[in-house]
Amino acid sequence: MLQRRNFLIGGLLTTAMAASMRPALAAESVALPALDQAKLASDAGFWSAVRDLYDVDRSIANLENGYWGIMARPVLEAYVENIQRVNRQNTVYARKSFDADFAGVRARVAAALGVAPEEIALTRGATEALQTLIAGYNKLKPGDTVLYADLDYDSMQYAMGMLENRRGVAVKTFAIPEPATRDNVLETYRKVLEETPNARLLLLTHLSHRTGLVMPVREITAMARAKGVDIILDAAHSWGQLPLDISDLNVDFAGFNLHKWIGAPVGLGFLYIRKGRLADIDTHMGDKDWPADDIRSRIHTGTLNFAAALTIPAAIELHEKIGVAAKNARVNHLRNYWVERVAGLDTIQVLTPNDPAMHAGITSFRIKGKTSKDDNTAIVTRLRDEFKVLTVRRAGVAAGQCIRISPAVYTTEPELDRLIAALTAVAAS
Ligand SMILES: Cc1ncc(COP(=O)(O)O)c(C=O)c1O
Repeated sequence: MLQRRNFLIGGLLTTAMAASMRPALAAESVALPALDQAKLASDAGFWSAVRDLYDVDRSIANLENGYWGIMARPVLEAYVENIQRVNRQNTVYARKSFDADFAGVRARVAAALGVAPEEIALTRGATEALQTLIAGYNKLKPGDTVLYADLDYDSMQYAMGMLENRRGVAVKTFAIPEPATRDNVLETYRKVLEETPNARLLLLTHLSHRTGLVMPVREITAMARAKGVDIILDAAHSWGQLPLDISDLNVDFAGFNLHKWIGAPVGLGFLYIRKGRLADIDTHMGDKDWPADDIRSRIHTGTLNFAAALTIPAAIELHEKIGVAAKNARVNHLRNYWVERVAGLDTIQVLTPNDPAMHAGITSFRIKGKTSKDDNTAIVTRLRDEFKVLTVRRAGVAAGQCIRISPAVYTTEPELDRLIAALTAVAAS
């Protein structure tokens, strides 16, 4: 009797939860006008409809969207709804249904990237994903060398540096030439691989957060493979900003986030380990929740932001609705808009080449000779306070510090006009 009663209550609860936990996917109902394929970047009606999906503080021209991306309103609404439902149902939800929902989220991310769900594990961002891959890569032995460049991300550089003590390897660093071209970048990697016969692992950033440079990953991977060097790819800024086919890039290990260019809530990412390579990354902190042949044993995060994770499908839905080719065309267009208009200012050095294969939306500049932290902080401050243009100083580039401009799909041309006017004044002073 008691058992039957529990069964009935359980059944009712499950039915009620199934109805209430239906993932909020307001993005599904977003209607965008048809995009003129001949005007991917400049179809005014389409891009104005996209911009209208975002609530943006326009009191300043925000050209610092590389940090993280604003969620579109339908994604934000889904997030709020998920927070409310998860909070209301508390452990009833977390204990009973979250695992299955989380598996569905993982499958959705994998499908969007074009990989198997078994090849990815969700993390709290690219840092967690990449640090876990770097620290867990277990094929190194004393006497081996690991490599990274000046343009790679600071915390991944630190993790590569840590391998010296942890694995007894040598750490070799090198600088990407400036100005960069496809040929001199390839030559730099060719040379460092040639000169380092003991190299076993290379950190490679697909799209640099310092200058916006997009690396010829496929070619570098081919060179590295030929020398028995594995690559860990930092894709924090690439997926979403540009189309990415991981099997075409031919990398076995990569880290991503979802809160920059995919537009999911902050604090989400994932790691990718190609099928057949799992054994080369240690289980995370001795994990025993998952078997060693399950990639989920490679990251043990603890209690997650359930609602944020549940919102990933809504973000991907909208991302795919706008389309990555269109997003890429639009951010390239916004980048070219300001770069073309400052090209005549001879004190401005633009740090990514105009080669369309070597940039997306992010591009940094430097005022000739202004390479210090103080110089660049002063310019960023002036742009912000005098011209109401938000940018960010970037350090770590071998040739000197610089200033990064990162527009997003919700950036307007008049906001870029403000940047152009500001740079014209700064360049002249
Ligand atoms: C190139 C690069 N790698 C990694 C990261 C870290 O990403 P996350 O914030 O998801 O940890 C960033 C963040 O700005 C980045 O620009």
